[in-house]
Amino acid sequence: IGAPLIDTHGRVHRDLRISLTDRCSLRCTYCMPEQGNEWLAKTSILTLDEIVRIAQVAAADGITTFRLTGGEPLLRSDIVEVVRRLAAITGPDGRPVEIAMTTNGIRLPELLPGLVDAGLNRLNISIDTLRRDRFHALTRRDRLDDVLEGIAAAGASGLRPLKLNAVAMRDVNEDELVELVEFATAHDAQMRFIEQMPLDAGHTWDRSRMVTQDEILTALSARWTLTPVPGRGGAPAARWTLDDGPHSVGVIASVTAPFCGDCDRLRLTADGQLRNCLFSTTEYDLLPILRAGGDDDEIDGMLRSCVRGKLPGHAINDPSFLQPARGMNAIGG
Ligand code: GTP
Ligand code: 5AD
Ligand code: SF4
Repeated sequence: IGAPLIDTHGRVHRDLRISLTDRCSLRCTYCMPEQGNEWLAKTSILTLDEIVRIAQVAAADGITTFRLTGGEPLLRSDIVEVVRRLAAITGPDGRPVEIAMTTNGIRLPELLPGLVDAGLNRLNISIDTLRRDRFHALTRRDRLDDVLEGIAAAGASGLRPLKLNAVAMRDVNEDELVELVEFATAHDAQMRFIEQMPLDAGHTWDRSRMVTQDEILTALSARWTLTPVPGRGGAPAARWTLDDGPHSVGVIASVTAPFCGDCDRLRLTADGQLRNCLFSTTEYDLLPILRAGGDDDEIDGMLRSCVRGKLPGHAINDPSFLQPARGMNAIGG
């Protein structure tokens, strides 16, 4: 324990995405079927203490950011405690870790004060459309107003940078990209558009229907002069400033411009499986170690096995591509 998590391609891992639940208050068509999935068994869901234990070992190994995801992380009843306990962890240099969250925004108005007090540092909120009818059709829930209130609460909280995520979709929201950017900048947030990835439960992804980074940039260029922002590091989003700034827009082009070469992420599912990639088909099971009295060296060993098994990149663009068995809601995005 204590050595950095470097894979066979030289990538140093600093970011652990922790999925807290596979459940969600929405049913986005590109993520989950209407009836939901077969949920993970309650008994297999990591407890607060188990999450903290894994996180402590990960931090000792050089993980500096914990991003809480889902499903919808705010559905977890102990979410404030999760943030409080994780925020208290420090790295080998004594520096506190960063706690970020990706959420659909519902329940943020009531929970945000407690989350900030507990030590939450950063928020990304998903919003694919600003039109009520479209939002209802896309998420199968009529909850746009709740999401808008959540974004307003995040804007007022002072947590920055605040990022808003939208999956760009043909015939769904591709005509709203400029509006979404204007909405985001009005909330002092950074809008990010995401190329749709083949991770939906129904396996309905269709490359020819994907809105690409090039198309997104073309649409935005009609309204703003876009200037690339250098120094992306391991971030999935490439960014452009809008006119003379200060605001910018990001594009996450996992399909047409993969950023796997700089990937610094590992994932932990709500049921204790480590994954080295969004698209990996292998998982590294921590549950037996946690629940049969294994020590921290064994957790560390599993983190290292996971890192060692990491491939240079995803295979979305290969004819041999196989979609992972889990859907997005159970991987954590
Ligand atoms: P930041 O640290 O704020 O940049 O967060 P993020 O963009 O990594 O996280 P977020 O949860 O907001 O994810 C936005 C989109 O990026 C989602 O569609 C994720 O699935 C995708 N994403 C995040 N990490 C990876 C990754 O390692 N590989 C790929 N292909 N996509 C990723
Ligand atoms: N492709 C790309 N992004 C997706 N998300 C969910 N499913 C997909 C997909 N198939 C996004 C959500 C959220 C983030 C965590 O992942 O919209 O913003
Ligand atoms: Fe819920 Fe996110 Fe999946 Fe939508 S994409 S159903 S908000 S987990």
